[in-house]
Amino acid sequence: MDTTVYAVHLVGTDQSFSCAADDTVLRAALRQGIAFPYECNVGSCGNCKFELIEGQVNALWPDAPGLSDKDKQRKRWLGCQTRAQGDLHIKLRTGDKYRPIHTPVRTRARLVSSRVITHDLSEFSFELDQPMAFSSGQYALVQLAGVTGPRAYSMSNAGGSVSESGTALSFQVRRLPQGAGSNALFAQLRVGDGVEIDGPYGMAYLREDAPRDILCVAGGSGLAPMVSVARGTFASSQLAARRLHFVYGARMPADVCGQDMLAVLPGWLARGSYQAVVSGVDSEAPLPEGFARGFVHDWVDQVYGNRLAEMEIYFAGPALMAQSLLKLLIARQVPMDQVHFDQFY
Ligand SMILES: Cc1cc2nc3c(=O)[nH]c(=O)nc-3n(C[C@H](O)[C@H](O)[C@H](O)COP(=O)(O)OP(=O)(O)OC[C@H]3O[C@@H](n4cnc5c(N)ncnc54)[C@H](O)[C@@H]3O)c2cc1C
Ligand code: FES
Repeated sequence: MDTTVYAVHLVGTDQSFSCAADDTVLRAALRQGIAFPYECNVGSCGNCKFELIEGQVNALWPDAPGLSDKDKQRKRWLGCQTRAQGDLHIKLRTGDKYRPIHTPVRTRARLVSSRVITHDLSEFSFELDQPMAFSSGQYALVQLAGVTGPRAYSMSNAGGSVSESGTALSFQVRRLPQGAGSNALFAQLRVGDGVEIDGPYGMAYLREDAPRDILCVAGGSGLAPMVSVARGTFASSQLAARRLHFVYGARMPADVCGQDMLAVLPGWLARGSYQAVVSGVDSEAPLPEGFARGFVHDWVDQVYGNRLAEMEIYFAGPALMAQSLLKLLIARQVPMDQVHFDQFY
């Protein structure tokens, strides 16, 4: 392991941070409390771009979709995919909302259990070598043996501190037939096998001080962060008077899940509600009892409509669902500081 550490200076400011040779520029900055903009942490969104003014860097994924040819000509790099090869001077605009609420840590971890949720979704739980504090709704990066680059997975636990002797950290992952990460998890990883985990990251965490009822909308692999937000809500004394509405959007009835994880939360019957909405069933075909038909954003609009602007809203899932929901929330004039999501890539 290369233990060299370089200095990174933010040009035009008095801020600087140290960056270990085996870390990325973005994550090293976040570990030291620098409000470095980002979102996905996996090379896709482009939010972590910076301009290299002086120094040498190395791109972990030169063809990452978050960086265009034009960016490259302008000496722009992705902070989440770049390692320092010497001291650096870089230019970027920091933003207060990116300042980490918990310091991200890198730790070894071991798979302690896995369980099937649906035909293509399973939960994987890991015991960490080092404690990690996180808030409900955040995600971590998991580096699996034999897979190029880490994968981002959201925690399904309620936020808190996961320590050596404490509970395991759990992820709920969708199996993609051609996915390198999901196949390594589903087909190769055995109980006792090791991975590296780096986290927490993400801005879509539970706001315990928000004085509003909560709406969680999950689609597909977006289950975990919404379950985490729901678990965090029911564990929070600050939110003890708030109702939580949970909507799960799926294509087919066999994809629907999550209700059993919520029904066991103390106080759920009095303060919680769950609705499954399926979009892939013909209008004449029967549905299981209690299910609704259609797209999840349409259902949310029909049922909550004008009340959306009075709610704290969290969502996670496929890009199309996220875009449709965002469009609806803008049309319903929901203040954007009440809306929390990390786009999945
Ligand atoms: C914030 C966030 C939270 C997420 N939470 C969940 C979750 O809770 N559950 C879930 O099932 N999925 C989640 N995802 C999606 C997940 O990270 C994977 O993208 C998805 O599981 C597909 O991964 P794969 O390895 O199976 O597929 P692949 O097609 O093999 O990999 C796709 C992913 O790997 C990255 N990647 C591909 N090639 C490289 C490379 N050469 N170097 C570096 N990175 C590379 C891509 O950016 C992309 O994220 C989340 C994604 C994000 C961004
Ligand atoms: S945070 Fe680096 S590309 Fe998304």
